[in-house]
Amino acid sequence: MFDKEVYIRRRRALKERLAAEGEKGIAIFIGNAEAPAQYKDNCYKFRQDSSWLYFWGINEPFFAAIIDLESGRETLYADDVEIGDIIWMGPQPSVSSKAARVGVEASAPYGDFDKAVGKAVAQARMVHFLPPSRYFNTVRFMELLGLGRDEVASSASLPLTKAVIAMRLVKEPCEIEELDKAGELGQEMHSVGRDSIRLGIVEQEIVGKMEAVTLAKGWGVSFPTILTQHGETLHNHLHDKVIEPGKLMVIDAGAEIESGYASDFTRTYPTGGKFTPRQRDVYQIVCDCNEFAFSITRPGITYREVHLRTMGVMLEGLKALDLVRGNVDDMVAEGIAGLFQPHGLGHNMGLDVHDMEDLGENLVGYDPDQKRSTQLGLGSLRMARRLVPGHVITDEPGIYFIPALIADWKAAGKGEGFVNYAKLEAEYLDFGGIRLEDDVLVTADGARRTGPNRLPIQPGDVEDAMAAAR
Ligand code: GLY
Ligand code: MN
Repeated sequence: MFDKEVYIRRRRALKERLAAEGEKGIAIFIGNAEAPAQYKDNCYKFRQDSSWLYFWGINEPFFAAIIDLESGRETLYADDVEIGDIIWMGPQPSVSSKAARVGVEASAPYGDFDKAVGKAVAQARMVHFLPPSRYFNTVRFMELLGLGRDEVASSASLPLTKAVIAMRLVKEPCEIEELDKAGELGQEMHSVGRDSIRLGIVEQEIVGKMEAVTLAKGWGVSFPTILTQHGETLHNHLHDKVIEPGKLMVIDAGAEIESGYASDFTRTYPTGGKFTPRQRDVYQIVCDCNEFAFSITRPGITYREVHLRTMGVMLEGLKALDLVRGNVDDMVAEGIAGLFQPHGLGHNMGLDVHDMEDLGENLVGYDPDQKRSTQLGLGSLRMARRLVPGHVITDEPGIYFIPALIADWKAAGKGEGFVNYAKLEAEYLDFGGIRLEDDVLVTADGARRTGPNRLPIQPGDVEDAMAAAR
């Protein structure tokens, strides 16, 4: 948790933004509840709602809060423990002391939150709320505001959502410190993963060792670990395969630290420790794309342009391998890169590994004058905005040979005249995939990677690191 001044300042800034838009009424916030895994006393590990953490800091279930946008009054709602709770949980600080810790003067029992919202509704005051990320909170909004399930998301407050996005998109210095810590832990986790690769063991063994690092020093993983010899399946969460020689292993994983901030890195390793010439050729293209994207990332450029120019570098490389033919600019415009990289170059990162996607992917990742493409690949770009200092984004190009997608495009006549289907089919259908990902902070005059210990990425450095662990 940050100093209380951080939360006071954020809430003040939020009120000022909404006042500047002429917004009135109340803004309501609901923290996450415990989520039962099997029955009510056996829950999933608690994870607080990220916007709640950002404004109210308290990392505990069953809290709610109201900001009166007209009086400026802030009230925190939660129940003090009783003797029945103390038996199971031990003594707990009072709700009022927790409120004081984050600079909130007024607190009240949780049940009063429903009454206060009900009163505002009865008075026909505007009730602003964020789109909920969890079903529990969807149900709460249904109850509080008399909404149908399908009405909750569309009834969320656009002014509040936009104000929160604008604030959370640009990271403060105290957040950047946390993101560097999350980066350091993610890098340690990945180093353990890389050094554990051995032929003949099952993938899950490596996953376990990596996740032990994040659990020992942080909150856990920032998303379910992707570790697979089938990297062509972008989000492959199966870890049941024995590690075989001659394969490529994609490890896409990140750490979340106790403050809730995330990291997200991807590296791809030759299972036996040495790339084959064919693997190295494709790997080098992805590596060049990662370095190129970083080299042009700076304030003023859009991440859409970084994506597109990086796809140009990728297509140049694929052209040198005779996997595509023709004018590279034409191929970029036609979306040919989508056959090889059917995802975007990156996404925002912060308290969520895909930061704020619960608030709306396009609102978060696109400027008002930007329209999302429908092309495969570019259409999955989650962060397209014009960059400003304080944005934290991922740089994660990849090349994948997806047999079903290649067959699909060929059958549909897509990419005809550009894509060398004969060579792809003869030589690459068993290749797998490669992805290389770093986390990047946009600075005043360029960019820097977060986390102090960048993981080896050039093919020779990767082979050296693997050899050193054997
Ligand atoms: N690293 C997982 C993702 O970006 O979706
Ligand atoms: Mn990512």
